[in-house]
Amino acid sequence: MSFEQMWRELATVGRSAKSGGYFRQPFSSAERECAVWFEEECARRSLDITRDGNGNVIAWWRPAGATGRGVLTGSHLDSVLDGGAYDGPLGVVSALAAVEVLQGRGFTPSKPIGIGSFVEEEGSRFGLACLGSRLLTGATSASAACELKDRDGVGLLDAMSDAGIEPDLGPSDLLDQVDCFVELHVEQGRDLVDRGVPVGVADMIWPHGRYRFDFTGEANHAGTTRMEDRRDPMLTYAMTALVANEQARRSGQRATFGRVDVQPNGTNAVPSRVTAWLDARAESSEHLESMLAEIERLAEERSGSDGTAVQVTAESVSSAVHFDRDLAHRIAAQEPGERWPIIATMAGHDAGVLCAAGVPTAMLFVRNPTGVSHSPEEFAEMGDCLAGVDALADTLERLSG
Ligand code: HGY
Ligand code: MN
Ligand code: MN
Repeated sequence: MSFEQMWRELATVGRSAKSGGYFRQPFSSAERECAVWFEEECARRSLDITRDGNGNVIAWWRPAGATGRGVLTGSHLDSVLDGGAYDGPLGVVSALAAVEVLQGRGFTPSKPIGIGSFVEEEGSRFGLACLGSRLLTGATSASAACELKDRDGVGLLDAMSDAGIEPDLGPSDLLDQVDCFVELHVEQGRDLVDRGVPVGVADMIWPHGRYRFDFTGEANHAGTTRMEDRRDPMLTYAMTALVANEQARRSGQRATFGRVDVQPNGTNAVPSRVTAWLDARAESSEHLESMLAEIERLAEERSGSDGTAVQVTAESVSSAVHFDRDLAHRIAAQEPGERWPIIATMAGHDAGVLCAAGVPTAMLFVRNPTGVSHSPEEFAEMGDCLAGVDALADTLERLSG
């Protein structure tokens, strides 16, 4: 089945009629529908499907003569809340299409080629990005994952059981067959647009983290409480959001408060508590740490004058990832006549987790004309997607030949 056909089939799954965006949270019916679709496509190609107790799947093309550890590609099928179609699924569908391209070329690999689908890459349900690959590699322990709950208080194990998966969290033998990993992904910026090329290769991922800010104050009446008598955590939060933006702008880094929970969340009450999540990213760990320290310092200073309290908890922090240099250059050099550019990314990926675990890893990016991502507006031209499939097929052929 062609890339276009597969893309059309998947396009309706988990799509909101209202926004046009996707809600494919892990272990939801929409995400499971994508997972079933993926396994059916793998079965159609006679791939050998292997699963682990974390919800990850790797399907292997292992024709006669393909022996030893293999070349893994693939990505994820879950989305952020109201996300785009491309972040994740582009890598999975391109992988299926690339295997078909290789079969069409009559190519027989001497190493197996695997297509992986990693679960809860976005952390949109349980808060921890790349949860599936983190569990697989041991970067997150099973006991820590068991404590995770979604916004409705449903625990990870229950969510998995409800979806028909028997949980067995932790490192599995799924990676034992993997020699190297190449993840194809839609670009989430405008680097390739500016360079005028459809495909690029990643060299690094910025260090990044998610930090929970708990601002506490005193619930009170919105009409009868004099302004000077209030202890309003919303004010401390609002000033902290402004400060975070300013600090990131000044230092050329990134800081975003994208999620807020207010208690009791009533129009006519001063809130008792505001919980807000900061997503911070920087070119180096030193930049990340100093930006965070400054945001925390200013939040505390402000809480002093507001009569509130603030507590900061790092929910997850990922160090910088430097992808395998040789692999990146081998991949970038294979376009006849010209090299694909090698670019940095500020987004996290399962590729980063596997790389940090010692798997030689590379990433291919497909041009995104607007750079918009984590939004229903996320887009890539079909011609560029097909260029990505060819680039991936060439890469897999080179690495598994
Ligand atoms: O949030 C991220 O960086 C990624 O898109 N999961
Ligand atoms: Mn994403
Ligand atoms: Mn992604």
